[in-house]
Amino acid sequence: MEILGIDIGGSGIKGALVDVQTGEYTSERHRIPTPNPATPEAVAEVIKELVTHFNWKGKVGCGFPTPLHKGKCLSGGNLDKAWKGVQVDELFQNKTGNTYSIVNDADAAGLAEINFGAGKDVKGTVVMITLGTGIGSAVFLDGRLLPNTEFGHVLYKNGEIFEKYASDGVRKKEKLSRSQWGKRLHKYFSHIQLLLSPDLFIIGGGASKKLDKFKDQIKIDTLLVAAKLENEAGIVGAAAAAKDLIM
Ligand code: BGC
Repeated sequence: MEILGIDIGGSGIKGALVDVQTGEYTSERHRIPTPNPATPEAVAEVIKELVTHFNWKGKVGCGFPTPLHKGKCLSGGNLDKAWKGVQVDELFQNKTGNTYSIVNDADAAGLAEINFGAGKDVKGTVVMITLGTGIGSAVFLDGRLLPNTEFGHVLYKNGEIFEKYASDGVRKKEKLSRSQWGKRLHKYFSHIQLLLSPDLFIIGGGASKKLDKFKDQIKIDTLLVAAKLENEAGIVGAAAAAKDLIM
């Protein structure tokens, strides 16, 4: 079964057709730069462009980069503050006529890893952390997702969240050296380990490709591995979620 998977990110909105049984693309990936500002109307236009590009009439699974509850955006986060309170599936459905399933982007990436990648067949608690512009999380118990967790928003100090201290975006902005960033990641992962006692951490997002460069600085007992699907995970997982939610 094929589903159009879309990953909405801060710099690009990417889509591909996905065979949700195998987790493989059945088309080329198509990327359109995220509009600036990324308002609901502007992003909905891009979704329409993608659906038209693939000439797609079926279901669409969409990964969305903000806190969500049942397809409703709870805070504009790193996208645009105008998103707060928007029922994202309805907005897109009204725009293109397709049926949408909206999942958090980190949940989508985690679903791809649990079904087809580094978390496949792993029992117990698996925590996927995506390190990109923000910090996203996906938590699984025996392969089942606890949706919409926001472990990048755990408070660090002075009311500041860890995302503003240890994300890849912060590393770039503050030009952190490998060891400066490594120390921050160590603090972050030690704390998440304490909160959740996972059996496995999977690191995703842009930083997953560089894991070898900073892994030795995260001195925790829990096994920590890089995501396998790299930048395909968001699209594949969004499509996989659509299969489960609206079949
Ligand atoms: C958002 C999360 C999202 C993460 C990665 C955070 O700012 O709150 O929902 O998963 O960024 O995009």
